[in-house]
Amino acid sequence: MIDPDAFHQFEHQGWQEVASRYHHGFAAVTIQSVDALLDAANVAKGTRVLDVACGPGYVAAAAAARGAVATGIDFSSEMVEEAKGRYPGINFQEGDAERLSFANSSFDAVVFNFGMLHFARPEQALREAYRVLQVGGRTAFTVWDKPENAVAFGIVISAIRKYGSTDVPIPPGPPFFRFSDPDESNRILLGSGFTEVHVESVPQIWRLRSAEDLFDVMYNGSVRNAALLRAQKHDGLEAIRAEIRRRVEENNHELPMPAVLASARRP
Ligand SMILES: C[S@@+](CC[C@H](N)C(=O)[O-])C[C@H]1O[C@@H](n2cnc3c(N)ncnc32)[C@H](O)[C@@H]1O
Repeated sequence: MIDPDAFHQFEHQGWQEVASRYHHGFAAVTIQSVDALLDAANVAKGTRVLDVACGPGYVAAAAAARGAVATGIDFSSEMVEEAKGRYPGINFQEGDAERLSFANSSFDAVVFNFGMLHFARPEQALREAYRVLQVGGRTAFTVWDKPENAVAFGIVISAIRKYGSTDVPIPPGPPFFRFSDPDESNRILLGSGFTEVHVESVPQIWRLRSAEDLFDVMYNGSVRNAALLRAQKHDGLEAIRAEIRRRVEENNHELPMPAVLASARRP
């Protein structure tokens, strides 16, 4: 059974720890979908855009470079500090996707780059996006494609299944790949009141620096997957590490990591 408060706290603590390492890990891939995300939300000069779960601020910064009026929020104070340090001219604030501190109808676009899969209550986050959007405003989110397609996850999950266990005591949360299913993304957007839903795939490639990089990024630069790896027994973990290294070498350090991008309009 999912305890949303326990999962929320687990994610929060995890991101606080990971914040300073994130830029040298997953960011190499998450930045690849920023333009497609902003295009899907019609972000252009003058658009008032909210970047929810902004992490180090890449989306808000790209929106500002388009001439948009960008605000970024993240529930991790450490991430907000990263974002402020990286992009000093942009308004970044600590805030929770599930309880936005903004007035109704105060944005033209609300975007989430790889945030939805980390929320304890994703329905609540979309209801909040709807509330702060003005009529006609757009929302867009990206998530990872399923592990068969987002190969880094496929490699890590199959290595754990082969040499370790996925049955470990970490707080259960909504399924990591829930919104990789276009039907599910469609359903949650319609169910939150949005209309004109569009779901597409964004091709991305993760070019790893070394054969060790994938294990290191998962172990040191993620939250749920790091907890899963850290919960393995020593011998199992070493076998998992070797298997991941072998599969990365087999793929010449280049892994397809497509995103699923869903967008919609507030009627
Ligand atoms: C995978 S990172 C994505 C960061 C960034 N958007 C990017 O494009 O790289 C997920 C981010 O979601 C944030 N996050 C998770 N749950 C949140 C919540 N309930 N409210 C606000 N931020 C949240 C984390 O702190 C983390 O910075």
